[in-house]
Amino acid sequence: MNMPKKVRIVDVGPRDGLQSENIIVPTENKIQLIHSLAAAGIPSVESGAFVSPKWVPQMSDSEEVLKNITRIKGTSYPVLVPNLKGFERARQANVEEIALFSAASETFSNKNTNCTINESINRAHEVCEAGIAEGMKVRGYISCALGCPYEGEIDNTRVAELASEFNKMGCYEVSLGDTIGIGTPIKAKSMLSTVADLVPMDKLALHFHDSYGQALANILACLELGVSTIDTAVSGLGGCPYAPGASGNVATEDVLYMLNGLDIDTGIDFEAVISAGEYICNVLSRTTTSKVSQAFLAAR
Ligand code: HMG
Ligand code: MG
Repeated sequence: MNMPKKVRIVDVGPRDGLQSENIIVPTENKIQLIHSLAAAGIPSVESGAFVSPKWVPQMSDSEEVLKNITRIKGTSYPVLVPNLKGFERARQANVEEIALFSAASETFSNKNTNCTINESINRAHEVCEAGIAEGMKVRGYISCALGCPYEGEIDNTRVAELASEFNKMGCYEVSLGDTIGIGTPIKAKSMLSTVADLVPMDKLALHFHDSYGQALANILACLELGVSTIDTAVSGLGGCPYAPGASGNVATEDVLYMLNGLDIDTGIDFEAVISAGEYICNVLSRTTTSKVSQAFLAAR
């Protein structure tokens, strides 16, 4: 077993978590959430998306968010960027890290970004080049890595080839998205090891939604292969407006509890994340979907 001693958490809550909510969360609440997560010691807090405001109005205030957050030195605040228009908006908002995205399914690519996979990779190349020239860090996402809401099964080699594309173009890391949370442990492990044949494991991250309640099991299985970056969302928020059936990301609180139990270091203050989750759930007037948070708050 290659279980890592340290894991880096990327909390995508302020972006993935809020992009398909029915309400548009006020800018000041987004900023407060980002500040709380960063203060809890989360090393990377995905803070917005410079996508089309017509497609995803929930992220239309990303300029205001990124211009007004107080950054902690050493913490990253990546944003999604789909094209050069989004890149220019990000650049003007003082963004230092961008995340590009493509998908291993043609139908999903079309629904999510109105273009083919090849076109999305071509756009990613342009944005990646512009980002690197500007001194930004660039991350890549592959959606539907364990299945597609429209096409069903996805070939692991397709995921691996796309990850390799992102790696070769200059992404420092590629995040493998189980967009609809459909994977199971053996399948997740098999996908990750196929990808790791083409891209070094220390440049890969997991981005597992929890629609079928498998995310923690899938993450544990993949940790055994040595992966050491995991995307999570505080309170298990999340979804994708163009992936029917996609529910929240795996909850940050649940992953932290599991990693603490495995003696894997994250450098994150668990109780501070529980408080950040309580805060955003109050804003959204909902109960957390994190089992760990529910148990912890009930016991308090
Ligand atoms: P399009 O409509 O094909 O774009 O959208 P277009 O180039 O034809 O332009 C149409 C209009 O949009 C123009 O304005 C452009 O200027 C404007 P008009 O001339 O009509 O006034 N426009 C923009 N405005 C602001 N910012 C931009 C931008 N681009 C064009 N960046 C596009 C194509 C890719 C932009 C659109 O499809 C889009 O924004 N898609 C993103 C959808 C999205 O955000 N999905 C969720 C995020 S992905 C995800 O959640 C998965 C992930 O979590 C991993 C996982 O779970 O698997 C990452
Ligand atoms: Mg996602």
